[in-house]
Amino acid sequence: MAKLKIHADHVLNRINKEIYGHFSEHLGRCIYEGLYVGENSAIENVNGMRTDVVEALKEIRVPVLRWPGGCFADEYHWKDGIGPKENRKKMINTHWGGVVEDNSFGTHEYFELCRQLGCETYVNGNLGSGTVREMSEWVEYMTFDGVSPMADERTRNGHEVPWRVNYFGVGNENWGCGGNMTPEFYANEYRRYQTYVRDYHQDCKIRKICCGPNVDDYEWTRKVLATCFSRSQEEQHGFMDGLSLHYYTIPGDDWNSHKGSATEFDGKEYYKTLHRAYYMEELVRRHSEIMDEFDPQKKVGLMVDEWGTWYDVEPGTNPGFLYQQNTMRDAMVAALTLNIFNKHSDRVKMANIAQMVNVLQAVILTDGAQMIKTPTWYVFRMYRDHQDAQLVESSIDAAPIGAETENCVPNLSESVSVDADGVLHITVANLSIEESYEIDTEIQGRTYEDRAEGAGKGDDAITGEILTGAMAARNTFESPETVKMTAFDDIKRTENGLRFTIPACSVIHLAVR
Ligand code: AHR
Repeated sequence: MAKLKIHADHVLNRINKEIYGHFSEHLGRCIYEGLYVGENSAIENVNGMRTDVVEALKEIRVPVLRWPGGCFADEYHWKDGIGPKENRKKMINTHWGGVVEDNSFGTHEYFELCRQLGCETYVNGNLGSGTVREMSEWVEYMTFDGVSPMADERTRNGHEVPWRVNYFGVGNENWGCGGNMTPEFYANEYRRYQTYVRDYHQDCKIRKICCGPNVDDYEWTRKVLATCFSRSQEEQHGFMDGLSLHYYTIPGDDWNSHKGSATEFDGKEYYKTLHRAYYMEELVRRHSEIMDEFDPQKKVGLMVDEWGTWYDVEPGTNPGFLYQQNTMRDAMVAALTLNIFNKHSDRVKMANIAQMVNVLQAVILTDGAQMIKTPTWYVFRMYRDHQDAQLVESSIDAAPIGAETENCVPNLSESVSVDADGVLHITVANLSIEESYEIDTEIQGRTYEDRAEGAGKGDDAITGEILTGAMAARNTFESPETVKMTAFDDIKRTENGLRFTIPACSVIHLAVR
């Protein structure tokens, strides 16, 4: 039996809802086909956004959406994507498949999508190949309320009222596709560019995100902070509000020729994938330690604005489109990673899974008019109550598994929060593909009487849901509900808490009222 200890009265910090954020790039079929089909499409849409996808995304309460890239962002010239669509410039998407980008999805369409989703906005600017003026004018175009060349142009293009930009990224992966810069060079460029990212709304300040490290490049973190972290941050808004971190889970050993299949894998590869996903814990911890040296008050967030699994593309699809299937293995990666982010939410203020639809670890896949929710979608659905809830202290007796494959991971992973109504949300993942575990949950800080009467089945004070299946189980267009969340009510009350058994390869969410 494994003990799960919860200190319900020991609140640590708020879990920023943005940890459950998403990323959408002009890449493959993410924007075009996946999210945007155009007003004249036979697929049901509202102002060009497909209704089925928007509805599915609203169910998981998307809190924030990053756009337009990724590597695409540092080649994107926003003026090509405004005005009458027939006049918009066409360009080659050099990074992703060499296809023609007709710019029919641009700034106005992005804000319309966020309006429909009811989410915050995160626009990524072009530092790699754009000018300071171009970036500054984009911010003016999006947010200035008054008479100005950019605000006037926005009005001429049909949107008099300015939008709100909640987050603005000053470049993307500038150590790589965003200009191959050294940390010293980027840091100085960052200071210059961010100066002209003006705040035109006093009640909605733009939170500026500085390009952070690739994986374990701790030197990048240290050098960039040394130049960009402003001491004036002690009193007010400084040069930066966030530092990004990118890390992808790739089971294969050769980035170019073998990342591994999304669907054909054995137990050894399963544990290898989870082992690599678990590396996120070390990355977050070690980058946070460096950030603590500069920013002990934790004013700057670590923004993991690209994370997820990255496999070989599905056979027969464009290699530049990064289209991959999604299995229970991906659900376990998501559950493990989100528990890590929750546990580190004193420093991790945003995270954006890559990517929202049809690309990498997508929550939604589409094929023409068809749409499926992936196992990863269900994890976001089960974890949605953690958004803006208070993280409470908790721990579980986890034991290492996968050792025989040289890829150890903890068998169990958990996090616990209390929402605004006082409901306790417990999320537990059993990473083992062989063993189920009985979990004895001890809840301290809430007396037994505080909880409603009843136990187990029919106990409406405790509700549960479960996602479970074989490690390679997945949804397909032929069988869209092979993997889906179901009610979980085999929960026993004990003197100090609850007891339940979590099957192998499963994720459970319990809500205790
Ligand atoms: O998400 C795919 C790509 O991965 C992004 O464009 C880039 O930022 C990262 O390398």
